[in-house]
Amino acid sequence: MKGQGEGMTATAAQHGTVLSVASECVPLVKTGGLADVVGALPAALAGQGFAVRTLIPAYPGLVKALAHEREVWAEADLFGGPGRVLAGRAGGLDLLLLEAPHLYDRDGGPYSAHGADYPDNPERFAALSWAAAAIARGGTEEGWRPSILHAHDWQGGLAPAYLRYGGATAVRSVLTIHNIAFQGIAPADRLAKLRLAPGTFTPDQVEYYGNISALKAGLVTADAITTVSPNYANELMRPEFGMGLQGVIAARAASLHGILNGVDTAVWDPSRDPDAAPYGPRSMKGKATNRAALLAEFGLGPVPGPLAILVSRLTHQKGIDLVAEAVPDFIAGGGGLVVLGTGDPALEAAMRGLAERFPGRVGVTIGYDEALSHRMFAGGDAVLVPSRFEPCGLTQLYGLRYGTIPVVALTGGLADSVIGATPASLSAGAATGITFHPVDALGLRQALARLLALHAEPAVWAAMRARAMKAEVSWDSAAARYAALYRSLAG
Ligand code: ADP
Ligand code: GLC
Repeated sequence: MKGQGEGMTATAAQHGTVLSVASECVPLVKTGGLADVVGALPAALAGQGFAVRTLIPAYPGLVKALAHEREVWAEADLFGGPGRVLAGRAGGLDLLLLEAPHLYDRDGGPYSAHGADYPDNPERFAALSWAAAAIARGGTEEGWRPSILHAHDWQGGLAPAYLRYGGATAVRSVLTIHNIAFQGIAPADRLAKLRLAPGTFTPDQVEYYGNISALKAGLVTADAITTVSPNYANELMRPEFGMGLQGVIAARAASLHGILNGVDTAVWDPSRDPDAAPYGPRSMKGKATNRAALLAEFGLGPVPGPLAILVSRLTHQKGIDLVAEAVPDFIAGGGGLVVLGTGDPALEAAMRGLAERFPGRVGVTIGYDEALSHRMFAGGDAVLVPSRFEPCGLTQLYGLRYGTIPVVALTGGLADSVIGATPASLSAGAATGITFHPVDALGLRQALARLLALHAEPAVWAAMRARAMKAEVSWDSAAARYAALYRSLAG
């Protein structure tokens, strides 16, 4: 057995160890912002004296990314087949991969194939949560044990529950809600299969309108709950945002903390982005070069007004239907639009339809492309985020950092991170973007009209852009808040 603290720095060992459990993590597997956050937290928390290990499923191909690979945990029958956890380093992280071919060797993505969710998703992520709780409680074969078990979203929701139902322990648990729209629902008859005792199937435990909810299980058993912005924490207690769990959240208000995400400022830095000409608040010349290159790349002609970008999952949450409705007036006013995204086929078609209707002014790429997204932030004048709800949102933060003015719905973390341009905020020198409410097509149309007007005033525009680029979007303050929370739980 190797000594405790393998892979840990001396300062980190002084404060505590964290087992972070999630279904995705940059740079190994990503479908959305969850992966960015799970991938960025360990480095941010190391600066606060916490050593983090991250447990994710060993989706196909991931094991070969591990360096110094070794088995640290195993169970012969883990929800229908053998499972083992491999420890190693990958992408700068201390990683734990749960290898269980019967659960994770699939042809499609992490959750679905050909648009259909895997029917055994409840078991797939129950197994992940089970392994996390087992390691938290009993340690790895090398003797490593966390002081904090930090689970993310419904896929980690059962981890605090298994930990709690397993009996007294010194390990404290935290559950972070990244998006309450996904709740990990399973039919009631899977209770035993999910290794939950019959007594847990009550409305104050895992039962949720006649089903089992993995997210609810975590919400009622975690020592603390966090969500990814202070505003979303408040919204979650209302029926229009809580999606049925508002009562559960409100009952735990004293243990709920809203901590705004940051972004990786080394990856998102216009002064040294390998995908674009460099620029910064003092010299914006590179941005003009990038704008011209972006127009050329999308085959667009000159755009006299602001060039808006949209980098998003194309779903109802993200308000993409509103874009289709609101953009024609914006184009008529001199604007242009470039879109990168995938998602709902009807919304993909709506975006393609815009490109056909406004050749030369609207360009659309259906797909997922990190490098292109960088070129778009570097070359765009504004980024659209018209979400109906948005727990945090990352693209408005990239927009701030790149001087690509965020045009955002006043909801969730968007409202916490962008200061909307009003006569008052402009004269106070505070505005960093454009906000709108209510979140409907008229609201977005009016916001786009404001974008045209502000862009037409070069001095006002330049000042707002310079302010946006100086806005604080790093992980520093979030990391300090997570660390303070961990300490308060341990103390
Ligand atoms: P969500 O997780 O709800 O999709 P976020 O704003 O938190 O929303 O995170 C989305 C992340 O995925 C961002 O890093 C964004 O740049 C990225 N992204 C979304 N769609 C694409 C795409 N088509 N190509 C490249 N990156 C994308
Ligand atoms: C979810 C939310 C998004 C948030 C991300 C990371 O995907 O939809 O708003 O930024 O998680 O926390």
